[in-house]
Amino acid sequence: MLKKVLIVILLFITMNVYNQGVGKQFLIDKDYLNYPIQNDAESQKMFLTSGDDTLFYADIRIAENKTDYWVFTDVSAYKNKNLTLVFEKNSSGINKIYLSEEINGVDSLYKETNRPQFHFTSRRGWNNDPNGLVYFNGEYHLYYQHNPYERNWGNMHWGHAVSKDLIHWKELNDALFPDKSGTMFSGSAIIDKNNTSGWGENVLVAAYTAAGKSQTQCIAYSIDNGRTFKKYDGNPVINSKEKWDNIHTRDPKVFWYEQNNEWVMVLFEANGHSIYTSKNLKEWTYESHVTGFWECPELFELPVDGKTDNTKWVLYGASGTYMTGSFDGREFIPEGGKYRTTYGNQYAAQTYNNIPGGRRIQIGWGTIEQDGMPFNQMMMFPTELSLRTTNEGLRLFSNPVEEVNKLHKKEYSWENLTLKEANEKLKEVKSDLLHIKLKVNIPKGIWYNLNYKGNSIVTFDGNHDLMNTYQYIQDFPGKYDFEVEVLIDRTSVEVFFDNGKMVTVAPLKKPETDEGLVLESAENELIIHSLKVYELNSIWNNY
Ligand code: FRU
Repeated sequence: MLKKVLIVILLFITMNVYNQGVGKQFLIDKDYLNYPIQNDAESQKMFLTSGDDTLFYADIRIAENKTDYWVFTDVSAYKNKNLTLVFEKNSSGINKIYLSEEINGVDSLYKETNRPQFHFTSRRGWNNDPNGLVYFNGEYHLYYQHNPYERNWGNMHWGHAVSKDLIHWKELNDALFPDKSGTMFSGSAIIDKNNTSGWGENVLVAAYTAAGKSQTQCIAYSIDNGRTFKKYDGNPVINSKEKWDNIHTRDPKVFWYEQNNEWVMVLFEANGHSIYTSKNLKEWTYESHVTGFWECPELFELPVDGKTDNTKWVLYGASGTYMTGSFDGREFIPEGGKYRTTYGNQYAAQTYNNIPGGRRIQIGWGTIEQDGMPFNQMMMFPTELSLRTTNEGLRLFSNPVEEVNKLHKKEYSWENLTLKEANEKLKEVKSDLLHIKLKVNIPKGIWYNLNYKGNSIVTFDGNHDLMNTYQYIQDFPGKYDFEVEVLIDRTSVEVFFDNGKMVTVAPLKKPETDEGLVLESAENELIIHSLKVYELNSIWNNY
């Protein structure tokens, strides 16, 4: 406490001596502090203090001569307190910061031009990796790498949203805040059913990386359904910088390994993924390491072709490359090569812990710029993963979760069409939030496209065997039968080829024409076995 008082006093003194710092006092009588942000203003340090405590700090681009968008802090926890916002340097925007019962821009929230309508995006600021994906007490938790104060990466907090159905999300307050050990990098969450940690039965525990001078692994627990966390006072629980002589040690993914009655952590360290084990989440033992991965490790077991008596383990990294193999709780032994299912603008995907019934649901970070918006990036649509035998061997498949059907508003369904007939029918489709299912054959082979507003969103090139520019190996080459499933939102397009054998994620290009969906192919020949198009509801309608 004394140390903190001294730091704050020192801060004020330093600022006064250099005549640069600015303090602005608030009696917190409303829920939100709103700040004006200018994209090209210089970034500066901001502290919120209660005089004897620094409540939080952040880098922020307070507006200098124009406001591009507004961001906020929820200060409802400090009601009736006198707090001071301290800035490194003066800026005209500081006088515009105000307290309100609402966030600035609430009237247009979720209706902004480029706001994805059935994918999760944060109300304000930047998001990257999904974190702490866990199902608990009827809620799917989606924590995520969040910069609440800017459209760009920085100030890493754990943002937080919950959903009852993986489709409709409610954003809550940030759950983990930067502290003296660093900013809050990626990690996972588990439910400590047997009270191994001593914090109580069924406590939700988060494992995260504190990114300061080094990257250390820490834990925190929540006794209010994941809304707020208390950080463990014995943190960090792992500091492996010296072991690897490397700063890159991060992104703990923890899960319960029933057979050994213990916790397993997969941790990215230096050049691959390490395995650690623990009985109580606090003391961890290093077990083994697999090289060839970078960031955001994942390790889970899946039935092969749906048969629960034959399972394999999948190990993957942030890029989505994976290996399948065996795992005995201590060591992962790869069998076969390294492959990839999802290509394009998805990174750092994570799967849910604790889903009843064993569904393996994944959400990935959509590395998609949201032009001109007070938020940036997005989460891609949740998918269900499965392991299936193909002609090339065992592969990881990824399909939109079946809950996507809840979004269906209007359905068009056609069968046995020629290319010309299909294009006539497609003119009936009006919405720009779409779910498409196409079964098609190209009798003369070589190529076909599905275009949307003048841009190609599905392209098969049979000369080079490319699907949307990525190498694609068909199970029955020469037959040219395809099943394609597409999700089109405001700024993104996800394509699932042949029941999820390959997935591509891409930004939706700016419209070139007013035309909606149009098929094209070599010599205008295409056999459309079936074509279903669903217009979708926005998930924010009832927000
Ligand atoms: C992956 C990543 C993680 C890290 C986080 C920081 O996108 O670099 O390794 O924890 O983002 O935001």
